[in-house]
Amino acid sequence: TMADHLRKYEALFNLTPQRMRMIVEAFKESLELGLSKHGQIVPMIPTYVFGWPTSQELGNFLAVDLGGTNLRVCLVTLEGKGKFEITQAKYRLSEEQKQDEGQKLFDFCGECLKAFVDANHESGLIPKGSVLPLGFTFSYPCAQDRIDHGVLIRWTKGFGAPNTEGHDVVEMFRNSLSKHQVPAEIVALTCDTTGTLIASHYVNPKTRIACIFGTGCNAAYMEKVQDIPKIANLGIDPEMQMAINCEWGAFDSFEHENLPRTKYDQTIDESSNKPGEQAFEKLISGRYLGEILRLIICELIDEGVLFLGQNTYKIEIAYSLDTAFLSLMESDPTDELLMIIGIFNHFFALETTLAERQFFRALAKLVGRRAARLSACGIAAIVSRMGYLDEGCAVGADGSLYNKYPMFPERIHEGLFDIFGEKGKNVVTYRAEDGSGIGSAIVAAMTKFRKEAQI
Ligand code: BG6
Ligand code: GLC
Repeated sequence: TMADHLRKYEALFNLTPQRMRMIVEAFKESLELGLSKHGQIVPMIPTYVFGWPTSQELGNFLAVDLGGTNLRVCLVTLEGKGKFEITQAKYRLSEEQKQDEGQKLFDFCGECLKAFVDANHESGLIPKGSVLPLGFTFSYPCAQDRIDHGVLIRWTKGFGAPNTEGHDVVEMFRNSLSKHQVPAEIVALTCDTTGTLIASHYVNPKTRIACIFGTGCNAAYMEKVQDIPKIANLGIDPEMQMAINCEWGAFDSFEHENLPRTKYDQTIDESSNKPGEQAFEKLISGRYLGEILRLIICELIDEGVLFLGQNTYKIEIAYSLDTAFLSLMESDPTDELLMIIGIFNHFFALETTLAERQFFRALAKLVGRRAARLSACGIAAIVSRMGYLDEGCAVGADGSLYNKYPMFPERIHEGLFDIFGEKGKNVVTYRAEDGSGIGSAIVAAMTKFRKEAQI
């Protein structure tokens, strides 16, 4: 029966508190290794964003966000004391663009920005003749040795544009800006996590950590320079704080010694454009959760358990089951599970029984819950390294999974409780302020201020 099948998957996807604590220990070691030496599995990237914003940051800034799914261009006015205004435009990136020549991708960003600036000249929001400082949010691992420079270590989230890995993406984007004569000066390169950390702290000073749970999965937090051994020889004031972009999605990559990978996870990994890489991210982020469920369904089709006598070709197409469907399945309020009927009917031309729909919903819950509990392990590793547990801390979180997947935050909190016990309640995640818009503008403002003050 479906119930017997479900028990099998429960055993595969369940994470006991004990197992979670083991993952946290290994995670913590990986973070520490990344801080001590260059080129480690979890890169722990020094961002050259020094300390928290002061809320004195002021002025007009452009922000461009090349994320995993969308390209966003924003005009941000920082008004001080945690206040701001934002105007923005959003463009969807096509799968082709993600694989096309790298420079073309940046040229597209340049084109969109040019159109946005022109439109805002007309609206009067951007004065003609002004050259605005620009914060560039580029949410992929980049090795930085200053704030306005970053060499792409590797693409993540399914991107594969050639001639970009190993190149300075700021320089590439700068070329595009001059090609399209965009009146903007790139002053800072940031990751969405770093932007989220800064923006969240701007409005909630209790924030110590920022996480993204979206197409990808990652975190940032502050370290004292003296606790980042790999940059000890650079002559930076050891007492100063610097934001670290963990790129924790890479945890357990290649080694696969610590995470509970099922055969579905292995299939996803092996058929991805980056086998072995982003091991943690592949178990958690929105790009992959739908695919995990789809692979389980396909296995049961092959075993003759599901959809006998129906044409299943549509659901056999890789990545055809979007993670948004899992959200819908979990949130279906009807007894008959009408939403799930609709999904299978409309998108896959399949008829389902109520028992099957209940089964799919239960599977979605297993996959979604495991993702949230693993996310809790990552947060716990940072909390434990930094000793934040007793005093407690706030974790700003953003991304489609965190914002839209039912119960995702609650399941993270439940996971933190399972790891730390009662004290786990001291660590609270909340919906972050827009990192790539506001955050990136604040970072740009902080950078300008430091430059002008010659710090
Ligand atoms: C947005 C943030 O809300 O979430 C971005 O402003 C971030 O900074 C994005 O990159 C991540 O979510 P997703 O689902 O688009 O990958
Ligand atoms: C991927 C990227 C990382 C980003 C995260 C969330 O893990 O490598 O830079 O922060 O996705 O968007």
